[in-house]
Amino acid sequence: MIENLWPTPVLTDKAPWSDSQIEQLRVFAVERFKNHKANPPEHSLPDVGVKLRVQLNLFHSIHEALAPSVWIQFRQWVDKLYRSYLAQAHGLRNAEELLIEARCIPVHYQQGMRAQPHYHHTCDHVLCLYLDCGHDRRSPIERDWTVGDGELILQDPRPMAGFPFWEKLRHIETYPGLVVIHPSRVWHESNPFNAQGTRTLLVVTLRVASHNYCELYCNLSKSEGYINATSIS
Ligand SMILES: [Fe+2]
Repeated sequence: MIENLWPTPVLTDKAPWSDSQIEQLRVFAVERFKNHKANPPEHSLPDVGVKLRVQLNLFHSIHEALAPSVWIQFRQWVDKLYRSYLAQAHGLRNAEELLIEARCIPVHYQQGMRAQPHYHHTCDHVLCLYLDCGHDRRSPIERDWTVGDGELILQDPRPMAGFPFWEKLRHIETYPGLVVIHPSRVWHESNPFNAQGTRTLLVVTLRVASHNYCELYCNLSKSEGYINATSIS
């Protein structure tokens, strides 16, 4: 189902994976997450207040070599679902022809952890597949809504007049097997994970890498040779 929130097209659906396939993906995500924590790569990105915690892509061959049998189906499903989303949400007639690039990140939370407010700056959309939302969870009706339990919160991207902010947020209840696709620049966060156990999901950031004239762009600070700077006076 694609809902136009504010209007921003957001897909929420039950993914077609069986319990055992979800379990295969969960075990792989947790193992790769822990491996990354134990072996943090060196990078040249500037450090910011919120540390860049997960700099990897499970679609790289070094990780895929260790993936369970369901992985190739998962990768193909992401590709197909994203093209379908682009066609339905944005009316793209050539969604099947596009070159699409993706990065897959494992996310693994202990009790009390949450995703701080953020957006994704290197892609067009974000797909989340929830694999484990813990156990002994309170039902949404019984929950203290000042705390919540792992709900995904999307923020209205429009500047706002005097109007209660809680009317402008969208809470998405998460459960194993839920898939969500939303535009990457929408600010979002999650409530703390307050159930028992752990919380695991796969996040795929997606970008359209063709049909947008990228090849015409050049480095603004360096002449390509056809303009002599001294002749501009
Ligand atoms: Fe995110």
